[in-house]
Amino acid sequence: MSVMNTGGNPQLNRHGELNHLLTIEGLPRDVLTRILDTAAPFTEVAEREVKKLPLLRGKSVFNLFFENSTRTRTTFEIAAKRLSADVINLNISTSSANKGETLLDTVDNLAAMQADMFVVRHASSGAPYLIAQHLAATDRDHIHVVNAGDGRHAHPTQGLLDMYTIRHYKKDFTQLTVAIIGDVLHSRVARSQIHALNILGVPEIRVIAPKTLLPTGVERLGVRVFNDMREGLRGVDVVMMLRLQNERMQGALLPSTQEFFKSWGLTPEKLALAKPDAIVMHPGPMNRGVEIDSAVADGKQAVILPQVTFGIAVRMAVMAMLGGN
Ligand code: CP
Repeated sequence: MSVMNTGGNPQLNRHGELNHLLTIEGLPRDVLTRILDTAAPFTEVAEREVKKLPLLRGKSVFNLFFENSTRTRTTFEIAAKRLSADVINLNISTSSANKGETLLDTVDNLAAMQADMFVVRHASSGAPYLIAQHLAATDRDHIHVVNAGDGRHAHPTQGLLDMYTIRHYKKDFTQLTVAIIGDVLHSRVARSQIHALNILGVPEIRVIAPKTLLPTGVERLGVRVFNDMREGLRGVDVVMMLRLQNERMQGALLPSTQEFFKSWGLTPEKLALAKPDAIVMHPGPMNRGVEIDSAVADGKQAVILPQVTFGIAVRMAVMAMLGGN
């Protein structure tokens, strides 16, 4: 029987529990906090020993990545295997999606193979929603959908692992000034970060970018806009860099990558304007010499690789909460 919520938040069931993870927007703070709290012991287990937990034993997790990925796809696979799931990585380039099969026909066929969870990355915003709606409409919403990045819309597990990283280093969200810098316009990561930071009570969220790389009305998301990087960086606790999303750009939004680096690249000299103990984050993949100088990316304040490691624990938490025995 379906427990899908017919109104309100489509990713929560009628008991207020996560049934899918499609976006951070609109999630109650206690759900976000529960995910971070659930991830904590998984990080500790992973640091001590690589031992499997039985929470997804007998469950099949299908990774459906219609767009390239290194970190998200691999850490979802590691996370699912650590929870004892069977993991199937559909190779989209050799799948029947290339012969004209629709997304929902692909989903129906994989559901007929007794899928328990779909982890979906897609270039089209809303693709994971479409799948979740389709499963609900056909009374199969016992199959969980996790959004692994859809178009410019959302990348919720990236947002969550970023929050986990901030909490790990800074403890209290309610005392922080956080700067998000770069191509906000095309970034699903930035949207997920902004929603999560607001939900968790961060008092000052700054976005620092040229006007051409900011969505219209971005202030309405609860951020302060800075068009001068030096001004925006002053006194911040957390610096979150974004990748220039060349693949999503239409037309000439920038003069050149060299010019971009000069005005918007994070160098040691600009980072010195932030608090001395500020941390530097980047979701990856990084464009060295475009949005970030190697001296910063490999420097003492960077927590970019710990972000990746925390991603395993956070994805374990999400999958365990959705489909755990
Ligand atoms: N941060 C992120 O989504 O990286 P991938 O594209 O490598 O998964």
